Amino acid sequence: MWVQLSLLLVLFSGTLSLDKLNMCMDAKHHKVEPGPEGKLYGQCTPWRDNACCTANTSEEAHADNSYLYNFNWDHCGFMSKKCREHFVQDTCFYECSPHLGPWIQKVDQSWRKERIVDVPLCVEDCHTWWEDCKEDFTCKTDWHKGWDWSSGINKCPDQSKCRKWTEIYPTPKSMCEQIWSNSYLYTSLSKTSGRCVQLWFTGPNPNRKVAEYYLNNAQQHQSFAFTMLLFLAFASLSVVMS
Ligand SMILES: *[C@@H]1O[C@H](CO)[C@@H](O)[C@H](O)[C@H]1NC(C)=O
Repeated sequence: MWVQLSLLLVLFSGTLSLDKLNMCMDAKHHKVEPGPEGKLYGQCTPWRDNACCTANTSEEAHADNSYLYNFNWDHCGFMSKKCREHFVQDTCFYECSPHLGPWIQKVDQSWRKERIVDVPLCVEDCHTWWEDCKEDFTCKTDWHKGWDWSSGINKCPDQSKCRKWTEIYPTPKSMCEQIWSNSYLYTSLSKTSGRCVQLWFTGPNPNRKVAEYYLNNAQQHQSFAFTMLLFLAFASLSVVMS
């Protein structure tokens, strides 16, 4: 009887997490549900078949100081075009991705209720991002917080000077993990592994399978722990009863 019950519960918890494969986080500009968006713009077009961003958001993702976050990429002089492209891609990824379920966590922030944490980034995407930005300048390691917003757009706070990118971020890993306060996790996995998330892709979104992989693994651990717990409860019960 215990076995049937635990099997049922395991199956139930499995179906509960199914929507984690296709969902939108509760943040500033995300849609409630993912769906087709035929008019996505520029670098956001790979998400057209199924997206958490609207056409408007996808267009704004390409603009300077856009209404999305009023974020100023040029806080230490002009950001180079090739570096900027990675931030546009990162914005498209953040706003449009419907397959980030396994890495979404609740946060207590005024401007969003959920964020992503430790999304395992493919090594190619992290390295090209850093390579294309390493001649640029910045003043901060964590771009999520600590800016001077008094003018409405982010400026470097008084105590932080503009420095070479490589002084702020000595390695691709330090950049990818620190820039958005651990939204990304550095991995040495390549795009062909199917176990890391891709910012840049063409064709069908490869990240669904990756989310599925991590979800199944986490679920197996959970179900295993849960089954063990039931087993122990049952075992101690039978000891008490005998
Ligand atoms: C997107 O929507 C905002 C708010 O409604 C508006 O201010 C902005 O002009 C729109 N952007 C585009 C590109 O349509």
